[in-house]
Amino acid sequence: MKTLESRIGALKTKFDESLAGATDAGALEELRNEFLSRKRGRVTLLFEELKSLPPEEKRSFGRLVNELKAHVQKNLAVSLKGSIRIKSGAKGKLTVIEDDADRDQVDLTLPGETLPWGAPHPVMLFLEEIERIFETMGFSVAEGPEIETDYYNFEALNFPPHHPARDDWDTLYLGENLLLRTHTSPMQVRVMEKHKPPIRIIVPGKVYRREAIDPTHLPMFYQVEGLLVDEGVTFAHLKGTLDLFLKRLLGDKIGTRFRPSFFPFTEPSAEVDISCLICSGRDQACPVCGGTGWKELLGAGMINPQVLKNVNIDPERYSGWAFGLGIERAAMFCYQIADMRTFYENDLRFTRQFFLK
Ligand code: PHE
Repeated sequence: MKTLESRIGALKTKFDESLAGATDAGALEELRNEFLSRKRGRVTLLFEELKSLPPEEKRSFGRLVNELKAHVQKNLAVSLKGSIRIKSGAKGKLTVIEDDADRDQVDLTLPGETLPWGAPHPVMLFLEEIERIFETMGFSVAEGPEIETDYYNFEALNFPPHHPARDDWDTLYLGENLLLRTHTSPMQVRVMEKHKPPIRIIVPGKVYRREAIDPTHLPMFYQVEGLLVDEGVTFAHLKGTLDLFLKRLLGDKIGTRFRPSFFPFTEPSAEVDISCLICSGRDQACPVCGGTGWKELLGAGMINPQVLKNVNIDPERYSGWAFGLGIERAAMFCYQIADMRTFYENDLRFTRQFFLK
């Protein structure tokens, strides 16, 4: 009697070992036949043997054989159903085994599961393109804080306290001395404080202004600041660089125009327009340029000597230029987008178009 009990134990061990060695659906099927086949399965034969036992032994050994059968069935089912089993390979390495059995259960006629794909945001795509162009011209990319002090946003940039020019920047203050930066220009000061010329850098980032929202104004938008400081830098370098940059970004046909302007931190200062590719100034009702033939895109100028002094760079020896570009504006022009708000409505039908371009 003891022998029947130990035989059942040995069979269980044998099954477990064979199961661990079964690497595919075929081997599992073989194992099922070996143990559960209706005619010659090892478990089936044990049930046959039971029939000849006296009733009191039948009960106790019957239970053991049933347990073995349940063990075999359960483990075979688990192995067959799991689409992937992980098994210890010969050298103890873990290998992943795909189970063909599971593939049979996939109904290929059913519609597939759609994954909700996102897309790179058009502003980011545009920003990457701008960075790429300037990197080929030897510029580095830096980033700075969106919460600034009055000193960096205004004072070091040559806006004295209460100067009326501050009113041009509708500032969102966070307290006595802290504010949300209204432009990326504070990074001119931060970069020049840390690095001595030659400096060639662009600074992309978000800026904030207390604006009423309309198709061309948002309280948060992106700018890219450009800054170059070295010996012998002139306005001609600024013109040449911006002209090349805008042509690379928007196409060779783009014309540029520099109009005199005012910023406390540059002298002389300019606003830079690009020619309207939509109507070339011929359509009085042009939605892009309003019939003027030009579209304002950025502010620029030669760094005011006072700003250089504020960061201890000698204006007798060094000169430089800076520019600031509104990214959404440029992207609106490039992609013919009429309303700036569409950038931030998170409508995937909008953002996906640019991904596909
Ligand atoms: N910071 C200016 C603005 O936001 C743009 C600018 C940058 C002008 C650098 C001159 C030089 O309008």
